[in-house]
Amino acid sequence: MTEILPLDRLLQTPVALLLCYPRFDAGEAERRLRELRALGVEALELRGRHRIGDLPVLGKGHVGVVVAARVGAASAALKIRRVDADRASFAAEAANLRMANRVSVGPRLLAASANFLMMELIEGDYLTDWIEGLAPSEAGRLRSVLRRLLDKARRLDRIGLDHGELSRAHRHVIVAGDEPRIIDFESASTDRRVSNVTSLAQYLYFNRQMRSKVGRILTTETEALLRALRRYKRSPTDQTFRSLLGVCGLA
Ligand SMILES: Nc1ncnc2c1ncn2[C@@H]1O[C@H](COP(=O)(O)OP(=O)(O)O)[C@@H](O)[C@H]1O
Ligand SMILES: [Mg+2]
Repeated sequence: MTEILPLDRLLQTPVALLLCYPRFDAGEAERRLRELRALGVEALELRGRHRIGDLPVLGKGHVGVVVAARVGAASAALKIRRVDADRASFAAEAANLRMANRVSVGPRLLAASANFLMMELIEGDYLTDWIEGLAPSEAGRLRSVLRRLLDKARRLDRIGLDHGELSRAHRHVIVAGDEPRIIDFESASTDRRVSNVTSLAQYLYFNRQMRSKVGRILTTETEALLRALRRYKRSPTDQTFRSLLGVCGLA
């Protein structure tokens, strides 16, 4: 069951730790609580597949702790900057996510401040777990999800935004109602050469863990795939992208 914690009771409970993780500080917690109110957050919801101590949360990374939050009648995902994060604010991540949103990629950004990123809550399974739950007869469903996912990576390539963590995407793709969603634009950048499509394809077809999961349902020709990836890398056009999809059996 989800416990809902209104903000005015938060500091009296162990949940206060989530506001300034991993080191609680009363002054910082007070400041962050005010910042949270200004964003329109009314309560935090304790739920999710990960845990901090014995508190269920949506996720935890090096930069943020992610919890569900109540904003009016709706729920949102709230990324809370860790006090030990190597970033001074979420400004850059918010800008990158906004850019991704323009090509319909990433959770919709709802609001951002120095210590909080409020975004669309994505409910589903990590891609790895989702694939594991498929029957061998569901190849069509898998193909459609991989195709959409590579399409999103292609859209990011086209706008020059490199996600930065798609070659190890275990926790960065969630499948929600058969729609693959790319999350976490914390490491994204417009200053690097983009490699979203190639990183993601590497991950899907060459990462040891993924390869066996995908390989249980779909077969791909490794040599042809490597050639198609090299061609796309040399010349990332719609044509080389389409031929890459073709080699993966996703065209
Ligand atoms: N919009 C979201 N909806 C649902 N869960 C999310 C959302 N954003 C992040 N999460 C969960 O929180 C985890 C950590 O978030 P992430 O943005 O990757 O933080 P970090 O930048 O610290 O790595 C993710 O792996 C995911 O499980
Ligand atoms: Mg992350």
